[in-house]
Amino acid sequence: MLRGKTIVLGISGGIAAYKAAALCSKLVQAGVTVRVIMTESAAKFITPLTLQTLSRHPVYLDTFDEFDPAVVSHINLADSADLVIIAPATANILAKMAAGLADDMLSTTLLATTAPVLVAPAMNVHMYAHPAVERNMELLAERGVKFVEPGTGQLACGYVGKGRLAEPEEIVRAAEQWFTQRDKLTGKRVLVTAGGTVERLDAVRYLTNDSSGKMGFAIAEAAVNRGAEVTLIAARATAAPIAGVTMINVESAEQMYNSVMERYEAADIVVKAAAVADYRPLVRSEGKIKKTEERLVIELERTTDILKTLGERKAGQFLVGFAAETDQIEHYAMDKLRRKNCDLVVANNVSQEGAGFNLDTNIVQVFGEEGLIESMPLLQKREVADRLLTLITDRMAAKGAGE
Ligand code: PMT
Repeated sequence: MLRGKTIVLGISGGIAAYKAAALCSKLVQAGVTVRVIMTESAAKFITPLTLQTLSRHPVYLDTFDEFDPAVVSHINLADSADLVIIAPATANILAKMAAGLADDMLSTTLLATTAPVLVAPAMNVHMYAHPAVERNMELLAERGVKFVEPGTGQLACGYVGKGRLAEPEEIVRAAEQWFTQRDKLTGKRVLVTAGGTVERLDAVRYLTNDSSGKMGFAIAEAAVNRGAEVTLIAARATAAPIAGVTMINVESAEQMYNSVMERYEAADIVVKAAAVADYRPLVRSEGKIKKTEERLVIELERTTDILKTLGERKAGQFLVGFAAETDQIEHYAMDKLRRKNCDLVVANNVSQEGAGFNLDTNIVQVFGEEGLIESMPLLQKREVADRLLTLITDRMAAKGAGE
């Protein structure tokens, strides 16, 4: 799985830096080209010569370590990486990553790379639990950084608790898993919808909902990071555009319907995270509606159910619907799954704190034809997206094997 890959191994300055030697050695044995960057403090715990000998490549310490005049080192390292691993990651490097600082070779390369980043933190138990460190890790998780959790036990500082660097074998396994998952989606065409549709009433007024698009954008980002060709059809959304994703902006449910239908045949996977209006004004006034009567009655008509139409016209696509519910989650989710012929339905109980509209987090339950298949706790939407993609690819593989 790892053979032929290039991994940039960043080592920051904690006592666990000594374990990075074993990690480097295991990666090299697995056929990986390992390019090591050490921070100045890391070099106080373990010598660059050790890592140079194990990796069989020069070790970078300073931003201006230009060993090859033909290239700019930090850009070359950033571009060459299939994956970046930071092990151990101190509270300091996490803070620099979160803030986007570039004041040494490691942080500069991290800013320059578009490769996925796997972080294995190691620090004192109180530092690990500090709100600043927690917040930085949350922020990085939102941006798609993956973590290998530290272990609990006797720490070098004398404390007993959480903060011990994960064992090198575990970090290697996490890297393998990352490549396995990515390869399952490489080249697949993924169509994602996001945001809340806007249904115009007159020239300045409209009906919409609280969707920010964050859930759908997180899915699109996670999919493109796994090598998929992603098209994101977005209605009104506040989430930022994603590099590498083809984005199509729409406004109304009707425009979303047309845009999705145009691309459906070519899609392998469709994920409908958008909050689509069920009703739209029957009449749209060209100008601004004047204030005249005491009461104004607006007549609404049903929009086309895009997901249901996709289910009816399914020809091999893997179809995932969302369900925003407030009660009887399983009942309504299963009803949607069957009525709309979905392969999976992701239900979020939007009355739960931390779940649903306009938040960075979500709490979801995923249903398949056999019922509940995964219940996720409160997680960043980016993490929900990753777990969902793993479920999708696993089930597609199982479906393919059964055919
Ligand atoms: O965007 P965020 O702020 O991050 O919030 C995320 C979210 C809460 C919007 C998202 O997680 C979510 O639940 N999206 C679906 C919301 C919704 O419209 O649920 P629903 O139960 O009304 O619709 C069920 C499914 O049918 C959805 O996949 C929806 O996209 C689809 N649908 C609905 C109506 C319609 N006319 N056409 C559709 O395709």
